Amino acid sequence: MSAPKEPPALAGFVEARTPHRPELSVERVTELDDHDMAELCEATDAAIIEGGGFGWIEPQGRAALQRHFRGVMLVPERELFIARLDGLVVGSAQLVRPPRNNEAQAFGATLTHAYIAPYARGHGLARLMIRRVEERAASLGHRVVNLDVRETQTTAIALFETLGYERWGTHPAYARVNGRTVAGHFYYKLLEPGRGRSTGQVMGR
Ligand SMILES: CC(C)(COP(=O)(O)OP(=O)(O)OC[C@H]1O[C@@H](n2cnc3c(N)ncnc32)[C@H](O)[C@@H]1OP(=O)(O)O)[C@@H](O)C(=O)NCCC(=O)NCCS
Repeated sequence: MSAPKEPPALAGFVEARTPHRPELSVERVTELDDHDMAELCEATDAAIIEGGGFGWIEPQGRAALQRHFRGVMLVPERELFIARLDGLVVGSAQLVRPPRNNEAQAFGATLTHAYIAPYARGHGLARLMIRRVEERAASLGHRVVNLDVRETQTTAIALFETLGYERWGTHPAYARVNGRTVAGHFYYKLLEPGRGRSTGQVMGR
């Protein structure tokens, strides 16, 4: 005999009292189906409208963003990461590796275009996404992650600094946003590959 069901009113009460723990995930993608692409474009435009995470200042619309992301997935030096909240695509980041001819800087990679849509912030997704990008960079043999950010992106700056990024410089004429010149901060973080010589040893420190 099956267990008696809770009366509908009580079931609703229990659900309302139990805080919903959203499911967070980050994945590296080399292709996206139409559904995920649509969600990604919506999240991107929402982040642009709110004020950042991309070089774009004006929302671009589905067609332009779709072309951008399809292009990113084709570029050999770029890797695209998407963040999901309860399965919905709500943000992304890119890992840019140096071109093959730049042997001298092959040990570094750049984290760029990282954002989470305003409606999905505050759950720890950006932190998870940056960690995933760092893990991937380390697994590819990189010892350094570089990034730069407008001085006005104060949440991102707080996040990067708590994750151990060192600010090494500020460019006073970094960007132009709505007719105003905005400075930008430059950061790096050393990575440990988890095997072989430590980054300190490699760098002779
Ligand atoms: C920066 C950004 C990616 C953070 O996304 P998020 O998913 O809300 O961040 P998380 O929930 O992972 O928060 C991680 C940390 O960021 C900091 N943080 C997040 N929201 C914050 C806020 N409103 N004020 C201050 N610090 C905040 C905290 O240090 C937080 O750590 P904690 O959870 O231990 O307190 C998001 O605000 C964003 O997309 N901003 C616009 C784009 C941008 O600036 N991108 C970076 C430039 S490349």
